[in-house]
Amino acid sequence: MQTGSVSHRIFTAASQCLVGGVTAGARANSLFATPFYAARAAGSRITDVDGNEYLDLHTSFGAALLGHGHPRIVAAIQDALAAGILCAMETETASIAAGKLVKIIPCAEKVRFTGTGTETTYAVIKLARAFTKRDVVIKFEGHFHGFNDYLQYNFWPPRGQGLPALYVESQGAPADIEKNIVVLPFNDTGALEKTLRARHAEIAAVIMEPVNFNSGGIRPRPDFLAAVRALTKQHGIVLIFDEILSGFRTGPGCMQAHLGVTPDLCTLGKALAAGMPLSAFAGRAEIMDHLSPLGKVSHSGTYLAHPTAIHACNAFLDEIARPDFWPDLLQRTDRLCAGLRQIIAQRGVKCWLSQTGARFCFLFGADREPTNYREMVDSRDSARTGKFFQSAMAAGVFTWAGYHHGISAAHTDADVDEILNRLDTCLKEIA
Ligand SMILES: Cc1ncc(COP(=O)(O)O)c(C=O)c1O
Repeated sequence: MQTGSVSHRIFTAASQCLVGGVTAGARANSLFATPFYAARAAGSRITDVDGNEYLDLHTSFGAALLGHGHPRIVAAIQDALAAGILCAMETETASIAAGKLVKIIPCAEKVRFTGTGTETTYAVIKLARAFTKRDVVIKFEGHFHGFNDYLQYNFWPPRGQGLPALYVESQGAPADIEKNIVVLPFNDTGALEKTLRARHAEIAAVIMEPVNFNSGGIRPRPDFLAAVRALTKQHGIVLIFDEILSGFRTGPGCMQAHLGVTPDLCTLGKALAAGMPLSAFAGRAEIMDHLSPLGKVSHSGTYLAHPTAIHACNAFLDEIARPDFWPDLLQRTDRLCAGLRQIIAQRGVKCWLSQTGARFCFLFGADREPTNYREMVDSRDSARTGKFFQSAMAAGVFTWAGYHHGISAAHTDADVDEILNRLDTCLKEIA
């Protein structure tokens, strides 16, 4: 943004009182002079404080699956406000929403609502430890599970670092918790078998993104996924699918239904309440019942199942149950991705576009789907990636220079055509 712009003025003032001028570390973006300051959003479009309108491909990191300000969601939140904002109380709406999740999500026999994804991954591994009476958790390189001390290893190590070494993503965690984590390469059955042969009696849980959207949409090979399920079952290890991001991308049953593999526990978030702050975890009753008040795993909080978010969740679950919801969203995303592949090829840009359901990733520098983080990062053309995202923003397509993008149910066919048109110009520029 130009000096003298509204964004620039806000950023100057914000830098005096907010750390780095932002409210969250990831909202500062080194590709741009200022953070993106949104003024308002409706459906598929966002307007910034300088009056520029963008077609949205960011969709609030995937939370805005219905688009921005969906009338059904707004009405549901208004109901919660009118009822008196029943914070820290039980409401029938929470039990109705949980009942709907139990019906549609394969692993969900019992549900507990939470706020952020980070606290949710924290809660599931705590529960898995209590259930198994073991301490060590296995995660995969490139998989992101929030800013959770126990799991903040090797999600995005720089090229040349990471496995076989442990890469710590943040300062501030006690050094001795490292003994409780094992990081393995994704899609490597041999590495998992070897670890379990030696250490199965210590392993409480294997946690994974069922599709690794946070590192470019890397899919599990079917044989790897089958081995993960069989080995965890064999050794009494809790298999956790972190579906904070992958949930509600392929259908109501989330990625576990799409892949045909049922974990013991899963997390849900982002789309779950259509942009309101709500996450959840769910799974086998035998494990979930270790939570308080039935069991001895403490879990509670003032804002858990906050009624504004719960009402939004309930309305979201009704909206995605409409018969035409999934065919419309998935066909439109397929059309966008087919169009993107076509213009990428026409402009001669080396870029692999990965897609699973309603989320996709641009992998500039790759000419095939990577099978793990290392392959992805080694092929990544960071300079071209950065230029593309700068050019997309200048062309009025709101993206994030991260790994995953998507459209919402509010995007129309005309929006898809317009996005293709604008991004074609960007690809031409960077070719
Ligand atoms: C797979 C996964 N787990 C956990 C999180 C953390 O969620 P939150 O940002 O709500 O803390 C994210 C966020 O991107 C995620 O993608």
